[in-house]
Amino acid sequence: MTAYKAPKGTKDVLPEQSYQWQYLEALIRGIVKKYGFLEARTPVIEHTELFLRGVGETTDIVQKEMYTFEDKGGRSMTLRPEGTAGVVRSYIENGMGSLPSPVRLFYKITAFRYENVQKGRYREFHQLGAEAFGSTGPLVDAELIGMLALYFEQMGIRDAALRVNSIGCPVCRASYNQLLQTYFEPHIHGMCEDCRGRFGRNPLRILDCKVERDHAIAAEAPRLLNHLCADCQTHFDGLLRALDAQGTEYTIDNGIVRGLDYYTRTVFEFVSTSFQSLGGTICGGGRYDGLVEEIGGTPTPGVGFAMGLERLLLELEARDIPSPEPPPMDLYLAPMGEAAATYTASLVARLRRAGVRAETDLCGRSLKAQLKYAGKRGVRFAAVIGDSELSTGQVKLRRMRDGTEETVSLSELETGATARMAAFGD
Ligand code: HAM
Repeated sequence: MTAYKAPKGTKDVLPEQSYQWQYLEALIRGIVKKYGFLEARTPVIEHTELFLRGVGETTDIVQKEMYTFEDKGGRSMTLRPEGTAGVVRSYIENGMGSLPSPVRLFYKITAFRYENVQKGRYREFHQLGAEAFGSTGPLVDAELIGMLALYFEQMGIRDAALRVNSIGCPVCRASYNQLLQTYFEPHIHGMCEDCRGRFGRNPLRILDCKVERDHAIAAEAPRLLNHLCADCQTHFDGLLRALDAQGTEYTIDNGIVRGLDYYTRTVFEFVSTSFQSLGGTICGGGRYDGLVEEIGGTPTPGVGFAMGLERLLLELEARDIPSPEPPPMDLYLAPMGEAAATYTASLVARLRRAGVRAETDLCGRSLKAQLKYAGKRGVRFAAVIGDSELSTGQVKLRRMRDGTEETVSLSELETGATARMAAFGD
């Protein structure tokens, strides 16, 4: 028989790991709520055209990494490689432009990129992201960055390295592109095929090349940050002032260009020191003032970020930051005999309604096997219920850690199990 395996670049999140995922999700949900974000849920598949326009035809994502297929109706569809394009489509399609600005949207998505698989780089991965539409000024950029910094802090990462940069607007980029072409001209014939393609279409992309020799040439290229137009410079200065005012630490990194075409002005990344091989980016984002219009909406500024959940988990692991363990079962009721089994089945149901994590036997096990099972499950307390307990109405509540027992009435167990177990102690 074939032993099926998960496709390359995908991972099962095992039951003991999913608790950690839920913890990270719950933490960010709690934070975004305080900032006024509501959740957006958009389809996993979109029309391919959306990403060609949205993410950009010269990006690696569009050129090499998309999972694109023709559906049975002959349409070209793509599994989303990121979340922003879909959220922007949804914003336009559902008329969210008429909502009070900024419209703040949060999302947790699965995304797909056909990548060279390595640690922290998968083909199916998960992003937590947020987008804010309708505000041009840098305050919203700073607010988003501050929100992220709070998230990192709350999960125990106090020194997340935040790098910020500005990549200007179409006005300053047009003259900067010429400057770049002049710089790269003498080198371009010896550079990789991708860079040669980027040279004419989008020379800024060359700065993001991962080929070592090209990277070295690009490192000496002029930086857009030194060639911003007056408006972009004012915006960037405003961002830095706002970050200072809110006490968010950052470094300016004029090498950040980001791998997607839609960015204007602010770009930022939170980087890890633990997996440098990936450039260490846990989270990336920035402003995209032209994207809504590009996708067919009325011109609306936007800014957002997304972070990879898998990379976040790697970072926590590398830093030895423990995340909470799933709480153990509170109580195991071990029935002996048919009458007791019927009784415990209804008692656990009532206990659960009252908020107690309780279990009973579902497998017809012997008493010994039941207690072994309860031990393996790490249950805090157990009680054996047989015919004599049913007739006296008294049971022995056993603290599993050390086997100590206390006598408890069945009625007290039913109405006050939590208090009784708390008084007994773990
Ligand atoms: P991105 O930089 O392409 O930006 O991805 C954001 C994050 O997703 C990365 O920092 C990384 O943690 C994670 N990620 C990306 N690719 C992979 C992969 N193959 N395996 C594991 N994790 C990965 C965006 O996606 C933009 N949409 C962010 C944004 C939102 N900008 C504005 N709004």
